[in-house]
This record gives sequence, C-alpha cells and structure tokens, in this order.
Amino acid sequence: MRKMFQTYEGKSVTISYDATRCIHVGECVRGLGQVFDTKKTPWIQPDNATAEDVADVIKRCPTGALKFIRRDGGVAEQPEAVNCVTVSEDGPLYAQGRIQINRPNGSVLLNDTRVAFCRCGATMHPPYCDGKHEKTGFSASGNKPPACPASEEEVKKGEILRITPMKNGPLILEGPVKIHTASGECIFQGNKAALCRCGASVMKPFCDGAHARIGFKSE
Ligand code: FES
Repeated sequence: MRKMFQTYEGKSVTISYDATRCIHVGECVRGLGQVFDTKKTPWIQPDNATAEDVADVIKRCPTGALKFIRRDGGVAEQPEAVNCVTVSEDGPLYAQGRIQINRPNGSVLLNDTRVAFCRCGATMHPPYCDGKHEKTGFSASGNKPPACPASEEEVKKGEILRITPMKNGPLILEGPVKIHTASGECIFQGNKAALCRCGASVMKPFCDGAHARIGFKSE
C-alpha cells in the first residue's frame, strides 16, 4: 500500500511529501521535472538538481504537501513576513506566513508556512483541502468583491496567524492577516476574521452563519 507520508533523502537536501495535503497544483513537476517526475520510481529524486533549486520550487507549493531540509548548510524556509490568505477560483483558501492551526480547545495542531484550507465543505481531511472541490463541482469566484467593507487595521509583520477550525463552523483567524482575491486584490486586512469552510455562505470568503442552516458537520 502506498504510504501517505514519505521522505526522500538526497546528498544535499531531504524532501518530504504528504499525499493527504497534495491537490496536484503541479508547481513541482512544472518547475523541476528532473526532480519531480511522476513517471519515475521513486517519483522524487532529490539529487537531480541543486538544493537551492529544489528549495525554490518547493516554496512555491501552496498546499505545504512538499517540504525540504537543507543538508548543505543552506538556509531553511523562512515564512512570508506578512501573513496572507488567497481565495482561489472554485478552490481552497491558500494561507502563507507564520501559520498556526489550533484546535478549538486551544492546543496546537500544526505550525506551518503554507497551508491549503478546504472552503467547499467536502474534504475528507479537514481542515485541509484534498481536491474534493473538483469532484463536487464547487463553484465560488475567487474574485468576487466581499459583501462587507475591507477592514484597514494595521497588519504587523512577523507575527503568528492562529487559525482555528471551529466544530461544524468557520475558520477563525486571529492575528495579523491580509486576505486577497485570486487576482491579488486585498479585500481584508486586520487581526480577526471568520472564513467560510462549509461552502454555503453568500458572503464568501467570509462566514455568514449559513453553516448552521445547512447542518454543516466537521470536527
Ligand atoms: S462556515 Fe460556511 S457560512 Fe459559516
């Protein structure tokens, strides 16, 4: 049986791959085909490029499914200075920065720099996107202007953005964050927001309470 989490050790860089968080965006195979080649076994061959090139491509993986550890003394991945969530077209919410995912009881589930959060409500691996939006035909513009005005609170650099998936409810964001449309327009900047993860809000990407009406269930 194929393992969902694998590491591939090279001489100058070790690559890890979490299949449960991969939605085949394809930055890796397009960016460095000699390292990431799904026709080969193993499909990741870390020694076929420099550690620097491997790191540059992995940092473009928006889901965080790919990670690297430099073994050549090169610098580790640094989070983006400003935390950001990008609303994709018919797809997930891509978070970048100092991201901390918390359980509703406050305990930490994960610290990461890149995460794709489900916003259609159909994922089998909540709160992460697993690509189910394509099978269910989820349709939600990544460029729709928000129904509520953008906050203009100051957004500090280098601070943690805590994201808590609430039981049967939205993603609660606490900490400095900018929210962008798919085309890059900033639609929110501030320190607190609730983002829809059930797929039913008419104020996407924000939660409007529709999760209660539709009986959304998710831990
Ligand atoms: S989580 Fe979708 S409306 Fe609240």
